[in-house]
Amino acid sequence: MQKDINIFIELVEQLLLEEKSQPVAKPIPTSDLYNQLDLSLNENGLIDDDLKNILKDIIKSTPKTASKSFFNQLFGGRIGKAALGDLLAVMFNNSMYTYKVAGPHVGIEKQVIHNICELAGYSKNSDGTLAPGGSMSNMMALTMARDYKNGSIRTHGLNRLMTLYTSKESHYSISKNAALTGIGRNQVRHVNTNNKGELLAEHLGELVQKDINDGYEPFFVNATAGTTVLGAFDDIEAISKVCKKHKLWLHVDGAYCGGVIFSKTYKQLIKGLELSDSFSVNAHKMLGTPLSCSIIVTQHKAQLHHSFSNEADYLYQTDSDDFNLGKTSLQCGRRNDALKLWTLWKSIGTNGLEKIVDKQFEMADIARTYINNHKDYTLHSFDDSISICFSYKDIAAKEICTALYENSKLMVGFGKFNNQEFVRMVTINSVLEKEDILAFFETLESYVSSTLLNISAS
Ligand SMILES: Cc1ncc(COP(=O)(O)O)c(C=O)c1O
Repeated sequence: MQKDINIFIELVEQLLLEEKSQPVAKPIPTSDLYNQLDLSLNENGLIDDDLKNILKDIIKSTPKTASKSFFNQLFGGRIGKAALGDLLAVMFNNSMYTYKVAGPHVGIEKQVIHNICELAGYSKNSDGTLAPGGSMSNMMALTMARDYKNGSIRTHGLNRLMTLYTSKESHYSISKNAALTGIGRNQVRHVNTNNKGELLAEHLGELVQKDINDGYEPFFVNATAGTTVLGAFDDIEAISKVCKKHKLWLHVDGAYCGGVIFSKTYKQLIKGLELSDSFSVNAHKMLGTPLSCSIIVTQHKAQLHHSFSNEADYLYQTDSDDFNLGKTSLQCGRRNDALKLWTLWKSIGTNGLEKIVDKQFEMADIARTYINNHKDYTLHSFDDSISICFSYKDIAAKEICTALYENSKLMVGFGKFNNQEFVRMVTINSVLEKEDILAFFETLESYVSSTLLNISAS
């Protein structure tokens, strides 16, 4: 093992150097992937030096999501202490289903969940678990809501059409999960948003009432804390009133920006969170842990157990259900995703996590100010968001983003709202500084003027 640890350290050192010298890796065209890299699996193995060389080639062309040129997705950067926790989890190789096999890591996960429930303002009757990503956390919420409405679905299956509600701007996992949980995509109602991409509670009420009149059984509403494109926050308090009136489960999907629970300044964006039935947050997005670290909590502890527990004599042989976490989880064998967040949290405290979150909003403000002060740009997103959506000189966003990527300049994606396509820059990497934000615009502008505009002119 020691030999492999030495190889690992050597490879990681190369990765860290590459991140600095070539922050956007040269992409390999898919048609050439198997020619450029030796990805083959063969009868005979390799000596360590040959294996190392192949891994070094792979490192070179792996997209550098921790570099300061990565603004593409809703994660990025690398925080040492969180990576340390995750590396240890790999070495421990526990499975989180029982106390017997995971030992103190059960306590670690329970502590993380407990503190997140407290920050969410949830009652003592709350509990939660970790799922393999925000999509799966949303599916757990949907499953609990379905079973909460009708306890016999777990055994008998659906006996009438049930409807759920989410905004047009919410994540696609809501519709996908409707299909997976037997609700059916046709029973997903997409609620209108205002011009900032926030769900309109009034329209929600109308849709629910119409479904009741038409004989459907409404049961679930998803509010988003940080929509995937614009980073908008739905009005939880207004939505909650509709949910209370019609006895609907309210889930808050905070996969992207639920991390604001750590910030005294930005917590107001999720005002009313304590009125929700469940809440999910991806620590691998705003909190900067490695993928994946998604937490789902609910105020209905018994429902979590009811929806996800299953007897298994061959597995649960010691200790109570409270410490055998397989009884409240989606999976059987489960990776230890809590340790990376706990290690980070323990080392920098809640105040440190607050600084991580606040920094992202600070960088977003810098980017918006830059855009507003430069006439070639048009801003399409809004304050209090870490998604900065803009267009530049009327050049198609797709063209800009693809050219920057293919030429190893920047990684940034594009999105759409109200039929307007734009570049979406995300300031989620908490190690970014003002100069990195300004460098982003400088790179974009010089690349466009030297290349794209020349191409368009010729
Ligand atoms: C609002 C929202 N919910 C859920 C998800 C899905 O999270 P994951 O990618 O961890 O499945 C995302 C991902 O970007 C998201 O933006």
